[in-house]
Formats: sequence, structure tokens, C-alpha cells
Amino acid sequence: MNVLESTFMQGFIRMANDGWEQGWHERNGGNLTYRMRREEVEQVRDDLRFDAPWQPIGTSVPDLAGEFFVATGSGKYFRNVSAFPADACAILEVDEQGERFRICWGLVNGGRPTSELPSHLMNHEVKKRVSDGRHRVIYHAHPANVIALTFVLPLTDEAFTRELWEMATECPVVFPDGIGVVPWMVPGGREIAVATSKLMEKYDVAIWAHHGVFCSGETFDLTFGLMHTVEKSAEILVKVLSMTGSKRQTILPDDFRRLAHDFNVTLQERFLYEK
Ligand code: 13P
Ligand code: ZN
Repeated sequence: MNVLESTFMQGFIRMANDGWEQGWHERNGGNLTYRMRREEVEQVRDDLRFDAPWQPIGTSVPDLAGEFFVATGSGKYFRNVSAFPADACAILEVDEQGERFRICWGLVNGGRPTSELPSHLMNHEVKKRVSDGRHRVIYHAHPANVIALTFVLPLTDEAFTRELWEMATECPVVFPDGIGVVPWMVPGGREIAVATSKLMEKYDVAIWAHHGVFCSGETFDLTFGLMHTVEKSAEILVKVLSMTGSKRQTILPDDFRRLAHDFNVTLQERFLYEK
């Protein structure tokens, strides 16, 4: 089967375009990767090539040896993914040591996969392990309201989790494990990848201060929906803070405990501190 006819590629393209339409991807901002299923690789194998040179990933991901990924290209615009997917995206194969990759499809006009490949692959490696292989999507976006909050809230997991949970009743149900925060770091390398993947051991969302957000999920829908929920909640908080420095009323720690009971989620007490 042709790669562009496949369900996984169509899902990838639709998600990238949805992110563009949300305004989360100025210029080449953001990147998306998908860990392919074995049967999806087989489906499109005839459309792949295996003669491109192996290139260093820039980090080591031994638990992803032999896996195939769809990835957006570095410097490519999300705006162009749906019109020119074979220019803006690639399918990559990771080598047997988890040290190098090669391009098997796409990037037809040259280029390389996203500069955040170390973060994406280290996050995939962690999520594959902690989710028993269920998580397949890693998504990095630049949504304005979350980024704005990184100039105002303390850069702690507790503050971001609690403040965003408070802004919409659905939030503790959508991301019950909470949100991790990476302080400002130089993007694009191994150091920020190590810091982010450490947070992905316990969270599905990691915020990069003054930069953006990483989300992980099982499907395109769940991962896009997670980013959307976090950003919507951040937008409400930005509106509230723009109106007043103090909320007249809010969801209280005991309310969260009741919600957790009825919705059958576990909310860690460290996020339910008294203010
Ligand atoms: P790429 O164009 O290399 O994917 O980089 C965009 C980005 O958001 C870096 O953090
Ligand atoms: Zn970025």
C-alpha cells in the first residue's frame, strides 16, 4: 500500500493540520512523531526504501531498536503537512543498537527529521515501557496560553497541575497524573530530552518553560485532545488572571477528592495542598 493511503498516515496528517488550525504552530514551531505498529510497517513496506545512510540520533534509545516512526521534518511548517506530506514528513527506522536512524520514506526535497528527535524518541522509549506499549504518539506544540503562564506561575509540577486542574472540572479526569515542568533549557539536544523523558515516567504532559508543551498518548485523538484540554484550561486561567488577581470561588481540595472518587481516578495529595 502507498504510505499516503494508509490510515495511520492520514491520522498523522489530520492531527498536524488540526494543530495548525488551533494556532499552535507558527512557522516551523512544534513537531509530531508516531511509533508505527508492526502490521502498519508491513502494509506500506513496498513503498519504503532501505538504502539511505544511517545517521546519529544524538542519544541512545536501545528499547526502540528496529522500530519505525512517522516524524515531521526539521524546519518544516505544520501549515504545509496536509498539502505536501511527502515533503514535510518522513518515516524513519531506528537501527538495532538504538543509536542511529535512516529515512525510509518522505522528505522528498531533502532535510532531516525534527531537531527534537532526541526528546521524541526518549519520550517514546519511556512511554513504551510504562504504558506496556500502548502509547504511540508524542506531540510538541507552542500553545500561547500555556507558554504565557510559564512567565507567571512558579515553575513547579505542583503549581501547574493544581492551577490547571482548577480551571475546568474535566482536567483532573483527563490528566489525573498531573503535569511536569522543565525549566528553561536550550532545545534540540540530549540534555532537554533527558529532563523531559524523566518527567514522562510519571506524567503524560511536560511543559517547557517559555517554549511549549510535550504530550504523550495512545492515539492521535487522545494526544491531540490532551494538548487541547491543557491549553483550553490555560486560556481560562489567563482570562481569570487578566480580570483579577484573586478568584472569588474555585474548585477546592475536598471537591477534587469527591470528583476523584466518583470518576474513579487517583489524584495525588501533593497536588491538593491548602493555599
Ligand atoms: P523543528 O522544526 O526542528 O521540528 O523544530 C521546531 C521546534 O518547535 C523546536 O522546539
Ligand atoms: Zn518547540
